[in-house]
Amino acid sequence: MKTKILVTGGTGYIGSHTAVELIQQGFEVVIADNLSNSFEWIVDRIQQITGVRPQFYNADLTQLDQTKKIFQENPDIKGVIHFAAIKAVGESVKKPLLYYQNNINGLLNLLQVMNEYQCKCFVFSSSCTVYGQPDVLPVNEISPILPPLSPYGNTKQISEQIIQFQSDVTTLQSVILRYFNPIGAHESGLIGELPIGVPNNLIPFITQTAIGKREVLNVFGNDYQTPDGTCIRDYIHVTDIAKAHIIALERLLQEKIETQIEVFNLGTGKGYSVLDVIHAFEKVSHQNVNYKFVPRRDGDIEQIWADTTLANQKLGWKARLSLEDMVSSAWNWEQKIQDL
Ligand code: NAD
Ligand code: WQD
Repeated sequence: MKTKILVTGGTGYIGSHTAVELIQQGFEVVIADNLSNSFEWIVDRIQQITGVRPQFYNADLTQLDQTKKIFQENPDIKGVIHFAAIKAVGESVKKPLLYYQNNINGLLNLLQVMNEYQCKCFVFSSSCTVYGQPDVLPVNEISPILPPLSPYGNTKQISEQIIQFQSDVTTLQSVILRYFNPIGAHESGLIGELPIGVPNNLIPFITQTAIGKREVLNVFGNDYQTPDGTCIRDYIHVTDIAKAHIIALERLLQEKIETQIEVFNLGTGKGYSVLDVIHAFEKVSHQNVNYKFVPRRDGDIEQIWADTTLANQKLGWKARLSLEDMVSSAWNWEQKIQDL
């Protein structure tokens, strides 16, 4: 009998890569997604990669009845990996209520139904955004949680607190994973990030500029206190992120966690500047990226990268793929998207 896992947001970017890894590790996967930022054909792609078709619910987690139906029909779900959320930082500043409504209500419904069905293993997608601009680098899991820079970031902070309080009074056991900057795509080129409209994030903007969809990449600021003046981030391959979820889930299922909630940073531990990323992309793709420096973007932090010691030691997980792997897989994916 395979262990059945619910993956919310499983047709999305990180969720689809994690669904693939789960299936390949012998789990049975049920996906729930309202397709607000993804497509049902991703399920076909997951099947194409793994040879197994996950069960799919077009369900909105903010609707309690739709969330409940998944468990009514699958009372044997043993664990949940919760990716479903909306994530555009800029949009969240303009539409704060939408972000609280979606990201918080979805979590509340899910935790309520999990409690009803005595499903106690929970992996939650959090973000390095909870650290804001840290005073000390790299950041570890006990670095201060700073006042949020956006409603989106605040939904992650609040979600972590909700999970904590729910754990205090139930048997819920959780692993909270704080991702740094996930980029790249599956090696098959069949799944990857699908930004709708003009991308906000660096990598899709680079690949779309290189392929001719965008005229010029604006590099936001070259006057930061960093070696080349551009911002520094801890970019990490989405496949490395996906693999960490399987390890976290197994730790929960095998009751190996040491406290009811464990929190881990998921990064490589290395910081790269915007120019480092552009140059790595140019090197692997043999394309020139047309870019220009423009003023700083509001709300951008100068630099952040992760201390990954805890994940390395306790999870036995380490990011394996290099910046070159990240940008070359993103480029491979961008070229394949043209055929969609
Ligand atoms: P994504 O938008 O590709 O995937 C999220 C999926 O959730 C989408 O398919 C969307 O349709 C679905 N969804 C949203 N609201 C829903 C709802 N109410 N009910 C059901 N489905 C819903 O995003 P992603 O990059 O894969 O991110 C996954 C998770 O990781 C999110 O929680 C995000 O906040 C978090 N995260 C992402 C990053 C990043 O840079 N990509 C960094 C840190 C944390
Ligand atoms: C990276 C760097 C930009 C676009 C966001 C969220 C964060 C987390 C990860 C979810 C920055 C620069 C970008 C462009 C540029 N998501 N840039 N030109 O801002 O680190 O993090 O995604 O939790 O919460 O805020 O990622 O990819 O937008 O930017 O110069 O067109 O690239 O200024 O230095 P960011 P990003």
